[in-house]
Amino acid sequence: IFSHLRTRPKIVITRYLGPEASALVTHKHSYEVVQWPEDRSCERDWIIKNVPGASALVVTVVDKIDAEVLDAAGDSLRVVSTMSVGYEHLDVHAIASRGIKIGYTPEVLTDAVADIAVMLALMAGRNVRETMQIVDQGRWPDFSWAPFLFCGPQLGSSPVSPKRIAGFIGFGRISQATLARLIPFGVTGCLYTGNPQSEPNIDRDEALRQKLGLETLRRVDLDELARESDTIFVLAPGGPSTYHIVDETFLRKMKKTSILVNAARGSLVDSDALAKALREKWIWGAGIDVVEGEPNVAHDHPLVKEPRCVVIPHIGSATTETRVGMATLAIENAIATLTNQPMPKELRL
Ligand code: DGY
Repeated sequence: IFSHLRTRPKIVITRYLGPEASALVTHKHSYEVVQWPEDRSCERDWIIKNVPGASALVVTVVDKIDAEVLDAAGDSLRVVSTMSVGYEHLDVHAIASRGIKIGYTPEVLTDAVADIAVMLALMAGRNVRETMQIVDQGRWPDFSWAPFLFCGPQLGSSPVSPKRIAGFIGFGRISQATLARLIPFGVTGCLYTGNPQSEPNIDRDEALRQKLGLETLRRVDLDELARESDTIFVLAPGGPSTYHIVDETFLRKMKKTSILVNAARGSLVDSDALAKALREKWIWGAGIDVVEGEPNVAHDHPLVKEPRCVVIPHIGSATTETRVGMATLAIENAIATLTNQPMPKELRL
């Protein structure tokens, strides 16, 4: 009478994903759910030990899924579903070449990440790190109000600086949502760099320019982006093609009053070069949600030591609503595959 239990597909989940997502897999006991039990990142050995015989593997950005894990899983594995829009932690070619599908979670996090990109731009431009430290350390009495004390560059246009250009490295959903948020602040133009493999979309750009009421919206090369932008948002995927795209050469071309924001992946920005740019005042400030080598970013990290660098620990998508949406979608992608339905969000290479 228990024969049906033995044939239940096994789902291995590397983290507790909250009650909403968990309910989807425990519903009707249709699956054998094997879940990392602790409230910390899953150990790789645990994955290797538990993945054999799994039909679905649900992971987060901290789990490296490569040939070793796939070999351990064996032929049963049909889907690797990640609770993230980024997928640099997956060896996508090794996964796809075994005929295994890949699920990911785009769109549900666009607004949360765009919000934090704007927040970082404002925090960096308005010296929030330095000034909050002064208050936290009880030193406000040493700094009574003065006309130009702690002044930084304004995000939007003003009579003094009528043109304010937002620059984007990568111009996908999150960049476009960030740009839309910058319009009420008074940004007047947008420059962006795209994937060199793709053709510029001039009609789309003109339609978007008109819709947003911008003076300019153009795809440019990195050189022009660095020279002309007042705030630069790094919002492109990680991986070898974008590795250290913001390096010393790029930073040296940026305006002295400009801000750099990175809410994508740490690997896009050379941390040492950025620390040098801040120290030597080639640029005004930086706001970063991601750092190469994270989470190993201690108080003596070159960027953490820079007062004009606002550093937050990879919380771009961290609103409760968004994380519930991501967790639920990750599970839905897995279940869709196991029930032979189209995945809500399949990564197609
Ligand atoms: C992603 O989804 O790729 C983020 O970095 C995690 O929120």
